[in-house]
Amino acid sequence: MQSVIRLEHHELPRQWYNLAADLPTAPLPPLGPDGSPVNPAQLAAIFPMSIIEQEVSSERYIDIPEEVLALLARWRPSPLHRAYGLEAALGTPARIYYKNESVSPAGSHKPNSAIPQAWYNKQAGIKRLTTETGAGQWGSALALASALVGLECKVYMVKSSYEQKPYRKHMMGVWGATCIPSPSDTTKAGREVLAKDPDSPGSLGIAISEAVEACVTDPTGQTRYALGSVLNHVMLHQTIIGLEARKQLAKVGESHPDLVIACVGGGSNFAGLAFPFVRDKINGAQIEIIPVEPTSCPSLTRGKFLYDLGDMTGMTPLLPMHSLGHEFVPPRLHAGGLRYHGMSPLVSQAAVEGLLSPKALPQLECFEAAVQFARTEGIIVAPETSHAVAQVIREAKQAKEEGKEKVILFGLSGHGMLDLGGYASYFAGELEDYEMPASILAQGLASADKFPKAEARSSGRWPAKAGAR
Ligand SMILES: Cc1ncc(COP(=O)(O)O)c(C=O)c1O
Repeated sequence: MQSVIRLEHHELPRQWYNLAADLPTAPLPPLGPDGSPVNPAQLAAIFPMSIIEQEVSSERYIDIPEEVLALLARWRPSPLHRAYGLEAALGTPARIYYKNESVSPAGSHKPNSAIPQAWYNKQAGIKRLTTETGAGQWGSALALASALVGLECKVYMVKSSYEQKPYRKHMMGVWGATCIPSPSDTTKAGREVLAKDPDSPGSLGIAISEAVEACVTDPTGQTRYALGSVLNHVMLHQTIIGLEARKQLAKVGESHPDLVIACVGGGSNFAGLAFPFVRDKINGAQIEIIPVEPTSCPSLTRGKFLYDLGDMTGMTPLLPMHSLGHEFVPPRLHAGGLRYHGMSPLVSQAAVEGLLSPKALPQLECFEAAVQFARTEGIIVAPETSHAVAQVIREAKQAKEEGKEKVILFGLSGHGMLDLGGYASYFAGELEDYEMPASILAQGLASADKFPKAEARSSGRWPAKAGAR
């Protein structure tokens, strides 16, 4: 029984895959404050040109620079596991595989994009990076990448996570980065939020505003900003996950999975695992592709597809995406990395196209699933990842009821060794499920009413599933 499927170094993918080349309907462009499409030069204050080129590219495959590959190769290719233990516990005929991104030095998939982003900035002569982080995974990944390529790094961390997860900020410190709880009084955006609500738990939207402001107001002009999810270039960098997984499945004779499942916050680990399979689906393969989000922050299942800001205060362009409204502050939730009001435009467009079947799950079921996974497979997953695990368990049980030998592939986006406080709260019975009330949803969405409308365009080839629960 081969439970770990590995690739050799020479089998590492040498190119990233860009879904923008294959989507049947091209995604709408991001818009500037005047309502016209953003031109690449406008982004030059926050990103180096090589990243901007990737952001707007419609090339299907983009070469991974040799030096980036060498840095990624410190832990990649990541292992693919067959979940024999979980399968046996569930008595399911399904064959369950998981791609284990927890083996990176930061403990998640996030370094897959942090490394190339830091490297391209270094090549462009930049001295320091600013960023935001939710659960601390992205912040620690960028701190790691900055240390490896020789950049300074300043991280605005959502305050609720900063308090709940103190060890992530220590990791950032070890790698030489500065970590500031957001909202903070170091930026105008932060001070405005604190004036309205001194106890604000913060949100990714607020932290992004602070990080972008800290970048564009640096008088030396040698600071740039790095985003850990949502944007096209981040989705691109993460596709190394799915490209490796496809080779690994082929090694054990699986032609393609029936189901691909991953959790979604801004969309990056999901896109990374799923986009190569979305391409297969566009080309005719029968694959159900499921992004899983929390019921407390359900941008794909209950949000609307519209033009909205990526941050709280308007430092970013308007993005065509599923959103709960940029002023929506999600409730405190242990899966801090899933507390984001918006969704990657590429993931959103794939959902509009009907290529995805989004689901929203409550947090107690997710913790229960994570505990079952830890007791059968050994790995204690991040609370974000637990959403994928819970959906896998639902699907595996259904496969059992139907007597079907389904092949399920899911993304183990990170380990939960620094999230044990969440597990402790779960065992102490302190966690509750939270279904977002319709009134709060309407209030959040109203914050995007003033922006141009985004037309949800699709080819009609796949019956729309966005909004399905
Ligand atoms: C382990 C883990 N999984 C998933 C996510 C969600 O982000 P994304 O949707 O960009 O993968 C995060 C975000 O911090 C994370 O830390």
